[in-house]
Formats: sequence, C-alpha cells, structure tokens
Amino acid sequence: MKAAIISLESESSRWTVTAMQNYFDNVDNINLKEIEVHSLKNKIEILHNGKPLGKYDCIYVKGSFRYALILTAITSALFDKTYMPIAPESFDIVHDKFLTQLVLQKHNIPMPDSYFSPTLNAAKKILKKINYPIIIKLPKGTGGKGVMFADSFPAASSMLDAIGPLKLQVVIQEYMETNSTDTRAIVVGDKVVASYQRKAAEGEKRANIHMGGVGIKCILDEKTKKVAVKTAKALKSDICAVDILETPLGPFVIEANISPGLQGVTKYTGIDVADIIAKFLYKKANEFKDKGKTKDTSKIFADLGIKAASDEIKEIITNVDFRGDRILLPELITKITKFDEKDELSIKADKGRLNIEKIKKEENK
Ligand SMILES: Nc1ncnc2c1ncn2[C@@H]1O[C@H](COP(=O)(O)OP(=O)(O)OP(=O)(O)O)[C@@H](O)[C@H]1O
Ligand SMILES: [Mg+2]
Repeated sequence: MKAAIISLESESSRWTVTAMQNYFDNVDNINLKEIEVHSLKNKIEILHNGKPLGKYDCIYVKGSFRYALILTAITSALFDKTYMPIAPESFDIVHDKFLTQLVLQKHNIPMPDSYFSPTLNAAKKILKKINYPIIIKLPKGTGGKGVMFADSFPAASSMLDAIGPLKLQVVIQEYMETNSTDTRAIVVGDKVVASYQRKAAEGEKRANIHMGGVGIKCILDEKTKKVAVKTAKALKSDICAVDILETPLGPFVIEANISPGLQGVTKYTGIDVADIIAKFLYKKANEFKDKGKTKDTSKIFADLGIKAASDEIKEIITNVDFRGDRILLPELITKITKFDEKDELSIKADKGRLNIEKIKKEENK
C-alpha cells in the first residue's frame, strides 16, 4: 500500500509521515508548494515538480487557509480515485468561520449566534441591535489575533472604525461565558481520540496557546463528544479538530480545523495522535481499495451479460448445460447462491420457468 502526504511540511505533517511508515509500504512526503494542477480539455493533471503525480492508495492533503484553492483542486481531481480524508468542498468552508457556521447551523449543531454583513456600515447597524458583551472576529484563521472582545456598543463601534481602513470583513458573535477557556476535540473517523482544554492567560479572554494560553488534558462528556463528531461529519472531514466552548447551556462549537497541529495535543494528553491518524488512514485506504475491487467485479459481471441492481445480482443471461436430461447450472450460480449439498431446497418449476429457494430452518428447532 502506497500513501502520500501533500502538505506544507510542518512538524505535525512530518510526525504523521513517520507514523504512516509503520503501516504503509511506502509513504511520500510531498510539499504542497511543488504541486501544479492543469485543467486540460480532456483531463485534469496533477504534477509534482513538473512530473505527473504517482498513484497512491491514500493521499492526505493539508495546508493553511491561504492554500485553500490548491487543496480543493488536488482533492477534487483525485477524490474518487484514491482515499482522501477530507472532501474537496471542505477546504473553503472550514477555512472560513462564517461559512463553517452556516453549514453547522443546517446540521443543528449549536454555535454562538453570529452576524455578518457585507460592509462595516451595515455591521454597525447590527451592533445597535444586539446584547453585550460580544466578540468581533475575522473569518479566516489568525491564531487568536483577529478575535476582539467588546463589552459595549461604543467599544465595538470604535473597533469597527479602526478596522475600516484595512478593508477587512468581520463576523459579530455572541460572547459565551466559559471562564476564558475553550476545548479542542480531535476527531478521527467516528471518534474523539483526544481532547484538551485551553485556559487563557491572566486577564485575557482568548484561550489560544499563541496568546499565552495553557492546555490541560480533559475528558469530554458524551454530549460534547457527539457534537464534535457530528461537526466533523457535517464538514466532510475524517480528521478534524473541533473547538468548543463548554458553557452552562451545553457545548457550542466555535470553529473547526482540518489541518490541526499535533504538538499541543500530544504534549497535553500524552496520546500518540499521529499513530491513531496513521492507523485510521491505513484502514480507510484498504476499505477504499476493496470497494474498488467490488466495482471491478461488478464490471466483469456486466461484461458477461449479468445484470446487477445495486449490490444484488438479479439476472444472469446464459445458456444451461444438460447432463442427459438433467439441467446443469453454471458454477457462478453456486457461488452467488452459496447453496450447499446439505441445504434443503424448494424447487418451483413451470413451463419456461424455474425458481429454487433454500428452505430456511426455523430457529431453536
Ligand atoms: N463567541 C465566543 N465567546 C467567548 N469566547 C470566544 C468566542 N469566540 C472565540 N472566543 C475565544 O477566543 C479564542 C479565539 O477564537 P477563535 O477560535 O474563533 O479564532 P482563532 O483562534 O483566531 O482562529 P484560528 O484558530 O482559526 O486561528 C477562542 O479560543 C476562545 O477562547
Ligand atoms: Mg481558534
């Protein structure tokens, strides 16, 4: 089995490559900046350092929001050919907090109420209608630097005035009291595999580690775990960090990260998340390959004139052999029906028609 990581070669990506080498026969570590996507009249080509990208059973593509377009392009070209943990449409959505909010809202995932308008003048009108305190944030990732806390209309309004000349768009969000903590849940497949709580530095509201916050391992309650897994599913991402505010009213998701750093979570929880991800990718790549084989078999059947409706074989168009006056059915029928010498069969026959069914033995007999 062959795999590749296409990334900005962060330390987390290197850890994941090393872990994947324990499962896959071969793992290539490819720099996202060396990739070209060519959309030609009859095909899409992915080149690495000017040469066509090799064939892989699994490709894990990751990178920051600045690279959302190339991440989307690579994934949309290869998503049906190889196992990839993140769907093409996820990159644009997850890299924007407000788009994330809209998707999660449709899936009934709790998030703080948020407001967006195309201009700062319009945003000011919103500021007059809402309760304080509030959070004003830039929709794209900033490691906490684009998140502002305003406890009154004058404070919020002057913040928008300061942002004005920078021509930035902002999301206005209800402030949720959590004692300046937030929780990060790492979701791999259907499970939260590790989680930790971040506590903001003294006098600070933002719990980001970059902003001086500290992390501590925590165990999530079932409801919060469910919300985290549901978030990853809604964002079509098999590997995802979900950031949650745990409040007296329950968990509220604030954002998701499809390229989560592994250093923090490994340090605070002692859990080898890189190994869990690698094992998961290997399992999924195998499942993807087997699914491909089933598709191939269906094609051979189709070529033989065997019609298949979904996974169920409905009809076989063939001749039957005769041994003397006895009908001999094709070997394929034995394989499909899984009839056994010991089986009792009910045979219904009419002119031009034959139906053979196994008699089901009653249970507990
Ligand atoms: N609605 C809110 N209510 C209370 N605290 C909030 C709210 N939104 C954000 N915070 C605090 O601010 C911190 C940073 O916010 P957020 O995670 O939305 O942006 P970010 O960390 O800058 O984004 P990114 O992680 O993409 O760089 C959070 O970790 C949390 O501590
Ligand atoms: Mg954050």
